[in-house]
Amino acid sequence: MFRSLLEWIEYRIPMQRVWNMHLAQYPTPKNFNFWYFFGSLAMLVLVNQILTGIWLTMNYTPSAEGAFASIEYIMRDVEYGWLLRYMHSTGASAFFVVVYLHMFRGLIYGSYQKPRELLWLFGMFIFIALMAEAFMGYLLPWGQMSYWGAQVIISLFGAIPVIGDDLTLWIRGDYVVSGATLNRFFALHVIALPLVLVVLVFLHLVALHEVGSNNPDGVEIKRPKGSVADADKPKFKFHEYYTSKKDIIDAAPFFPYFVVKDLIGIGVFLFFFAYVIFFNPEMGGYFLEPPNFEAANPLKTPEHIAPVWYFTPFYAVLRAIPHKLGGVVFMGLAIVVLALLPWLDRCKVRSIRYRSGLHKLNIAQFSVSFVALGILGALPATETYTMYARIFTFLYFGFFVLLWFYSKNENTKPLPERLT
Ligand code: HEM
Repeated sequence: MFRSLLEWIEYRIPMQRVWNMHLAQYPTPKNFNFWYFFGSLAMLVLVNQILTGIWLTMNYTPSAEGAFASIEYIMRDVEYGWLLRYMHSTGASAFFVVVYLHMFRGLIYGSYQKPRELLWLFGMFIFIALMAEAFMGYLLPWGQMSYWGAQVIISLFGAIPVIGDDLTLWIRGDYVVSGATLNRFFALHVIALPLVLVVLVFLHLVALHEVGSNNPDGVEIKRPKGSVADADKPKFKFHEYYTSKKDIIDAAPFFPYFVVKDLIGIGVFLFFFAYVIFFNPEMGGYFLEPPNFEAANPLKTPEHIAPVWYFTPFYAVLRAIPHKLGGVVFMGLAIVVLALLPWLDRCKVRSIRYRSGLHKLNIAQFSVSFVALGILGALPATETYTMYARIFTFLYFGFFVLLWFYSKNENTKPLPERLT
């Protein structure tokens, strides 16, 4: 009976076909390593944020008068409210840990290169939507840092010539950050942006499955002699896969092989996630900042306003430029330039494994610069720190400029015929 029910459904909607093509039998390169854990982990965190978010919304009050007290209520009186809130606040930071590592994987294995440019671009749109989502969520507890952080960031739009002042007014919905701002941020945070994120993740995966996964060797999955191998159009399409499954010799079906692999990643991730939730939910003031335990007070500016850790690299770039508009432009550029990677990198070889020493060095200096900017963005803007921030901003952008120059005629190693 069950089988005939499934057949009845399958005749009308391709449920099993889609499941098999995109999950169970998705041909996955056999050499996936540690760096390939983070896509499925990002999905796990996304689901966690949506579910815990729905439950938090049931007890949260989106008004300037009620927001802070409703968070206290969730923490103290709602059954397991503290757990839901810590899962959500820790999830926000975990999201950025996972997504930064996921992007780094793309960087080292050249996963953004042809034909995966759109996949990368959808990833970048996800990243931007995620930053907007986190920024708006952070206003909701209506603590001191929520309030003043929003004040600082929204006022940046004021630096835009001509329309700046009107734009900030339009974003805030008031002359200062107020209940009106809180209300619209709530609407965007709980429904508009999550919808955008889910749609973008869907498109990200459609784009991935159209061209297939890259892998640590950066060479396409090979088919045996005699099959329709086409070097420029790297892989079979799904409909082909169904007729020639046995031809793919460098791939294995996602189930059970990569389900088991990802379960290990999920287990290790949950270990750290649970540690933070149960033993260290504030994470030394990095996940939940101390001033946010005090209700928003428009008459009292905190001594030192710093964004949450995942924004600090870009915040450091903003402060490194001694001109307000210039700072805003460079901060924007620091994000946009990542989206241009598929066109800035002109090398034919993808993976760092077969690229030049110069490229390895360049990626190493880029990673150090990004972390250094992250640390500097959380510190007060003293003269010395600002000088360091300028040096690392220069190195950050230097990565992309250098890449464009050397990648065209790079001294690469010979690629293997098959996955290693
Ligand atoms: C909510 C956030 C995201 C989710 C849920 C997500 C999900 C996934 C999943 C499930 C995969 C396949 C598994 C894997 O390769 O790890 C993947 C691949 C990929 N993602 Fe994402 N992703 C997200 C954000 C991003 C971002 C921000 C970027 C970069 C800007 C990005 C770039 C890529 C690339 C290039 C691949 C293919 C990698 C390869 O085949 O080597 N993703 N993503």
